[in-house]
Amino acid sequence: MIKKTLSFLHFFILSLCLSAQTISITTDHTQLVLKVSSQKRLYQAYLGQRLTDRTDLSLLSMPQAGMGSSMARGLETYPVMGTEDYYEPAFEIRHADGNPTSFLKYQQHSTDGDLTSIRLHDEVYPVEVTLYYKVYPREDIIQQWAEIRHDEKGKVWIGRYASSMLYFEAPDYYLTEFGSEWAKEMQMQTEQLRFGKKVVDSRLGTRANMMAQPFFEVGLGSPAREDEGTVLMGTLGWTGNFRFTFEVDHQNILRVVSGINPDASIYQLERGETFRTADFYFTLSADGTGEGSRRFQRWMLNHQLRRGDDARLTLLNNWENTYFSFDEEKLVALFGEAKDLGVDLFLLDDGWFGNKYPRRNDQAGLGDWEVTHEKLPRGIPYLVSEAEKQGVGFGIWIEPEMVNPKSELAEKHPDWILRLPSRDTYYFRHQLVLDLCNPKVQDYVFGVVDNLMQENPSIRFMKWDCNSPITNIYSPYLKDRQGNLYVDYVRGLYSVLERVREKYPDLYLMMCSGGGGRSDVRGLNYFTEFWCSDNTDPVERLFIQWGYSQFLPAKAMCAHVTDWNRSSSIKFRVDVAFQGKLGFDIGLKGLSDDDRAYCRQAIKEYKRLENVVWAPNLYRLVSPYESQHCVVQRVTDDKAHSLLFAYDIHPRYGERLMNTRLRGLDPDALYRVREVCLMPGRQSRLACHDKSYTGDYLMKVGLKVLSSGQLVSHIIELEKV
Ligand code: DGJ
Repeated sequence: MIKKTLSFLHFFILSLCLSAQTISITTDHTQLVLKVSSQKRLYQAYLGQRLTDRTDLSLLSMPQAGMGSSMARGLETYPVMGTEDYYEPAFEIRHADGNPTSFLKYQQHSTDGDLTSIRLHDEVYPVEVTLYYKVYPREDIIQQWAEIRHDEKGKVWIGRYASSMLYFEAPDYYLTEFGSEWAKEMQMQTEQLRFGKKVVDSRLGTRANMMAQPFFEVGLGSPAREDEGTVLMGTLGWTGNFRFTFEVDHQNILRVVSGINPDASIYQLERGETFRTADFYFTLSADGTGEGSRRFQRWMLNHQLRRGDDARLTLLNNWENTYFSFDEEKLVALFGEAKDLGVDLFLLDDGWFGNKYPRRNDQAGLGDWEVTHEKLPRGIPYLVSEAEKQGVGFGIWIEPEMVNPKSELAEKHPDWILRLPSRDTYYFRHQLVLDLCNPKVQDYVFGVVDNLMQENPSIRFMKWDCNSPITNIYSPYLKDRQGNLYVDYVRGLYSVLERVREKYPDLYLMMCSGGGGRSDVRGLNYFTEFWCSDNTDPVERLFIQWGYSQFLPAKAMCAHVTDWNRSSSIKFRVDVAFQGKLGFDIGLKGLSDDDRAYCRQAIKEYKRLENVVWAPNLYRLVSPYESQHCVVQRVTDDKAHSLLFAYDIHPRYGERLMNTRLRGLDPDALYRVREVCLMPGRQSRLACHDKSYTGDYLMKVGLKVLSSGQLVSHIIELEKV
């Protein structure tokens, strides 16, 4: 009898599973399976390596409310606050009548090519949430977002609106986060996640990533490792406040909730308006973070980064060389230096604008984007033409979202500034943030770019800076909808950037934010590159670049040679910057003849090798976090060309130096190995220089590229013969 009942139960459960609506979202290597329960709730049934046999999908069980738990709950795809799930929800709503719950039931779904959408709705209230999943099969990236709308008569507020909720079941979980501060961006830190919550977020509004960057890695079963183990790597495409919540529940299930940070952002949603969340992107690698990084870099280049398939411009910047103190004569002389160096472009930094309140320092002038006549009497057109006469392109710095109280703009339009009524104003770098929620302000900000381009159509490059977080959270424009501020600000910014991208498709744009305060992948859909950090000390940069390289491609990472850490040789500084998008911000006159000659040669070599430097196939071979060395390798897609960057930082006395085993090569091919970028008159001391090896040997035995010297670097080229 018992046997009979059990087999009936088994049959019943199996047929329930089979009859359930199953939605499968797949890339080449990853699969996410969702199932609809008999109560029309949507659950995650599987997230892992792609299953080879489609019929296996019917075997996946569907955890659902009331089953196998002392608490009625399941792994619901978009759980709502106020329902039977007591852990971190994805969604929270207050209906017009004050009811704070919603039960989202499956209504329909469709798949169109790479995009799957699933419509959920509340059967009692006219509220609809559509979940979107876009797959990039070859790059193994999944993009997720949600759209929320309602048709209620009164006011509706949404208090949480995640882009994604994912569940994992592993013995343990290890989070790697990327903490930041000015001059110390992308510092990697790993900890075990235990019962309860860990939140990584930003509340800065603008310059949003100054203290935490919107990237994470979760090692499932072991800390994330470079070449082995299963790791989830995720990032949010949002140039504003973000929040990742990692919560381990009483059954040791991990939920990862990603989205815009809803703190101080209870959004008032109008009837018929669609609220689109930010985009969350993730990859699930079974071969460690190295594989995940290659996927993300390839995806960025193929799909996300503005002008991802294009070349970049090398440049000479004047910021650290002159700061605010320059005039026409000085600048024209610098154009000559740029020409002599062989870079494509001269970039004029902060300090060129303002007349009533000239920008002599960072205390005045922001907002008045008119050239300072006293300093630059012949204006920007003269500078552009002088640079071009010398065969150098011209680029210019702007910070259009900001205003100094000492400016004509602040005097004329006090209502365009984010500022709290009846409170003392708080300043960050003596400046305030403009109210980009206001369409008039959006027009003005667009005008900053547009006016410069109208006057100087041949400007090739702009550095768009953003040196302050949002300080006084009140928008005069939004009036009684202040909860919308942080979100609408970013949307206002995007609407400006879209206009810029459309009108000036050839303009290269650097996203800068007081160093690396902006680095998100949505921003990089409008910008061709970003400024990683004001810290250009090459030792620190090895760590900073190691961090960004987890997700972002080399051609997007601006790396300038400067005077930071003058105890390191110019070669070491250049060789570190060579790994990113190379530029200079240094007084070349102060360099020795040999150093200048080295820089010139490095620029030439960089241009010759840029396609290898920028290839998404990155192998991080020796970590500066684990040793006093750093070695990284790039390989072209056809495996014909590779570069090895080797750095000795501060090796210990008597350290045993190991061979470095290369990766990603063709084992059967023969490669000629040559050290390039040598100081004038120097010969390579590497034993492997000018020799040939099989890919097999290079990957199994490796090369001696490390030394016990301090701050020593080598750039080694490998070419298939
Ligand atoms: C901060 C940036 O990070 C610097 O490179 C420089 O452009 C300054 N702002 C100018 O004020």
